[in-house]
Amino acid sequence: MSFLEVKQVAHFYFSPSNATKALEDISFSIKEGEFISLLGPSGCGKTTMLSILAGLFPPTSGSITIDHEAPDANSNLIGYMLQQDYLFPWKTIEENILLGLKLNGRLNEETKQTALHFLKQIGLEGVEKQFPRQLSGGMRQRAALARTMAVNPKLLLLDEPFSALDYQTKLKLEDLVFETLLDYKKTAVLVTHDIGEAISMSDRIFLFSAKPGRIHKVFDVPRELRDVTPFDVRSKDAYNDIFQTIWKELENLEENN
Ligand SMILES: Nc1ncnc2c1ncn2[C@@H]1O[C@H](COP(=O)(O)OP(=O)(O)O)[C@@H](O)[C@H]1O
Ligand SMILES: [Mg+2]
Repeated sequence: MSFLEVKQVAHFYFSPSNATKALEDISFSIKEGEFISLLGPSGCGKTTMLSILAGLFPPTSGSITIDHEAPDANSNLIGYMLQQDYLFPWKTIEENILLGLKLNGRLNEETKQTALHFLKQIGLEGVEKQFPRQLSGGMRQRAALARTMAVNPKLLLLDEPFSALDYQTKLKLEDLVFETLLDYKKTAVLVTHDIGEAISMSDRIFLFSAKPGRIHKVFDVPRELRDVTPFDVRSKDAYNDIFQTIWKELENLEENN
């Protein structure tokens, strides 16, 4: 059995007057340590899929197992990183980063030192006593990464975590997140509408089509692109080839809609 298995998932959002089918016939499996991207236009159900994986709500039908268990938003198995950092403005960076451990009853000297050491590793030494508003957008997202990593989750769910950043900061953060997840052997699912980001970070790309959200195609990122950092991927010939292929596929999808 794979680390993460999604079988025949469908999801509807209901309102008093209508039902929106957000996902249909979604099945896939992910091996431990794999990095997957869910790519597709706005409204194709990416966030819905990620929220279901996070255990925020169950799918209307179908089943999911993560490390042999059903998704559970309260478990330590899963870490979530979003477009907005959701750092608490009234807490210091250190308090923000240790919050998850505290809530889980796992805050002790050792876990605290590990979390603070990680903060140093990612270039945030010295900001421990500062408040989120004193940090740049890129630094805040790095702090959000530190908070996510502090509880040592096995699976990281990343919902467009770089999309609110300027381009240069985004590229730097892609490298940082990629290398961190590789070093710590994490499994990751990244939601993005950025083809370049999907190619440069992932092992496989699930291209979603919309209305209802389905997996239209799966792309294996060539080996030669998987072993280099996201920044360096962009200068390879193979990058342009797969970019063109996915671009055309997306254009076909739009024409058929
Ligand atoms: N809470 C909600 N209530 C009703 N409809 C929703 C809700 N969230 C998302 N949807 C609808 O479900 C579909 C998929 O949305 P979403 O998962 O947010 O897509 P994506 O993240 O790919 O942009 C869209 O048609 C969206 O309008
Ligand atoms: Mg979304």
